[in-house]
Amino acid sequence: MLQKIYDWIDDRVDITPIWRDIADHEVPEHVNPAHHFSAFVYCFGGLTFFVVVIQILSGMFLTMYYVPDIENAWRSVYYLQTEVAHGQIVRGMHHWGASVVIVMLLLHTLRVFFQGAYKKPRELNWMVGVLLFFTILGLGFTGYLLPWDNKAYFATEVGLNIAQDVPIIGDEIKTLLAGDEEIVGAQTLARFFAIHVFFLPAGLFALLGVHFILIRRQGISGPL
Ligand code: HEM
Repeated sequence: MLQKIYDWIDDRVDITPIWRDIADHEVPEHVNPAHHFSAFVYCFGGLTFFVVVIQILSGMFLTMYYVPDIENAWRSVYYLQTEVAHGQIVRGMHHWGASVVIVMLLLHTLRVFFQGAYKKPRELNWMVGVLLFFTILGLGFTGYLLPWDNKAYFATEVGLNIAQDVPIIGDEIKTLLAGDEEIVGAQTLARFFAIHVFFLPAGLFALLGVHFILIRRQGISGPL
């Protein structure tokens, strides 16, 4: 049955070369932990991606209940946490995933750094990686405010004060992020929400696309 559906589609749009190009490759021996145990270090990029996918899926469900205004934000999270079926689990996944993704990202970056995998011809992918790093940190920073509790509020106040201390353009950065507010206010929450669910994810998708295309074109680095 499945084969028939596949053949029907393949007959019309010739999809076989596409998935073969993406998926039909042998893994080189030096990245296979069955051959060399130390090759497990190559898993961290894939694990980072795995957690990113969990964050996207759990985040999509969170937005079904989250209300991004200062009157309702905290209450909507409380409702999700206490009343909604499986809400606690979905929020927990997003909450802990936000930390796990940073740990995986660090391990991936350390692997690439200490193996010198950023050297020619992969300098461009290292630069894309640096942008990915800032994107993920930005997602962590903007997501932290959304529950609109005391910890969120005061942590963001500290973060915005740090941003304001950037030489020359500090005030502009702060206004861009916080809106026309004394410190943290209604516009800040609305902006952080928009940045967290639209701007940064859009950038993340684009950067991941480039990251993966470059990996496929250049192949994996090594062996050492
Ligand atoms: C969301 C963030 C990221 C994801 C999902 C991701 C994913 C991946 C994956 C799956 C690979 C294949 C090899 C491996 O898994 O080790 C890879 C390779 C690579 N990544 Fe990342 N990465 C991310 C961030 C970064 C960062 C922050 C850097 C560096 C600043 C970076 C630099 C590289 C380079 C240079 C390669 C090629 C390594 C080689 O050929 O050995 N990546 N990435």
